[in-house]
Amino acid sequence: MAESQTIGVFGAGWVGLVTGGCFAELGHEVIVRDVVPDRIAALQAGRMPFHEPDLPDVLARNRERIRYTLDAGDLADADALFVCVQTPPTYSGDADLSFVWSALDDLPRVDRRQVLVMKSTVPVGTGEKVRAALEARGLTNVGYVSNPEFLAEGHAVRDFLAPDRIVIGAFADEDGAGVEALYSRIAAPVVRTDVASAEMIKLAANAFLMTRISFINEIANVCEAVGADVVEVAQGVGLDHRLGPHFLRAGIGYGGSCFPKDSLALKQLASNSGYHFQLLAAVIEVNELQKRRVIQKLQKHLGRLRGKKVALLGLAFKAGTDDMREAPSLVLASRLLAEGAEVRAWDPVARPGELMKGAVLSDSVLEAVTGADAAVIVTEWDELRGLASAEVRDAMTRPLIIDGRNLLDPEETRRAGFAYEGIGRQSSAFESLPETPEPSERVSG
Ligand code: UDX
Repeated sequence: MAESQTIGVFGAGWVGLVTGGCFAELGHEVIVRDVVPDRIAALQAGRMPFHEPDLPDVLARNRERIRYTLDAGDLADADALFVCVQTPPTYSGDADLSFVWSALDDLPRVDRRQVLVMKSTVPVGTGEKVRAALEARGLTNVGYVSNPEFLAEGHAVRDFLAPDRIVIGAFADEDGAGVEALYSRIAAPVVRTDVASAEMIKLAANAFLMTRISFINEIANVCEAVGADVVEVAQGVGLDHRLGPHFLRAGIGYGGSCFPKDSLALKQLASNSGYHFQLLAAVIEVNELQKRRVIQKLQKHLGRLRGKKVALLGLAFKAGTDDMREAPSLVLASRLLAEGAEVRAWDPVARPGELMKGAVLSDSVLEAVTGADAAVIVTEWDELRGLASAEVRDAMTRPLIIDGRNLLDPEETRRAGFAYEGIGRQSSAFESLPETPEPSERVSG
């Protein structure tokens, strides 16, 4: 059994709380520090600031080992200080490290060795900058380690406790070894490397995953043109052990808090050193176009969209989260509104508020589709698997489903009386619809 250590966490956001909760689960003492009083008060009262499965249980189960504080002085006893603060991009694409600098300003002055561990995703070269800043502040007792997170929303706790690998980049061997020891109860390969390479592993892994998504989305677009089905194609391709089945789901493009931001950061990082990262630039562009293709699909069936009612089903950037950051639904809603369409939006958990100004939020799927000329599946929520029902068909003005996630079975959907169009699959025109009884009553929306 590994020795229990004291771990300080800067930032009670999503990464900070998953990191703190999971280290407590591994038996360590954890002190989570944030500068927002309301957030600390809520956590002390046992309230979660966001939706992440399993995290409330982990935090509750390890209550005795986790403290929440506003006072950075409480971190004096910590052996390792995990930096989990925001590092948003600036106009130049460089990371805004101001939250990191304030964490350094707040570091308690102690004699013992402490290690600052960067969890936040940062451009390559950040470690060098932080090391210089530590020296400038006379914090020679503080080492620096890059230990990027590979957590996906919706299963972050599992990703932390059962990772594919743990990446540790250090300037000094003893600091790397200290951080590795914190994870000793986890059986996963550990990659010990230099700081710049650790920083690059995170950016490269994300870029590769995005490349797979844009690749399969382009294959999907070609499938539509040549009469193949991308779901079948992805399955056949993914069985090749050299390729693997992951991240080959064609759809309406990636979103979220990481991919869009990190891809731009890597592209800028390359161009700052005079290198044009062509492949990544194409990956980003394909993703932008992919979101907009839904509009063309709607136009193909409905002609001009002015005055047409379109239901957007699912708003979060993926299922299992209420996160709307860089969600394709936001681009879709504003494009539709710009075309003069009426937008009804539904999501089981996400609440877009001002982000989706001009769209009408519905409380239920049925309410959203009533009177609609088309329903677009934007997020792959389980609740939408049963969308192709008689009730929905009868409620819609035109029974057209654009399935942005290939969630439904095309044949079953057509049999149920809908015109169906997925991504990278054969579409059906209204003329080819099977005979279905006329809806007895139309509800105007
Ligand atoms: C991602 C990475 O997986 C994680 O390692 C990193 O630390 C942060 O970014 P996350 O943004 O939570 O995590 O979501 P993920 O499940 O990876 O999906 C990202 C986006 O890609 C979503 O919009 C999703 O819908 C899309 N996606 C994913 C596809 O379109 N097709 C796929 O096959 C997989």
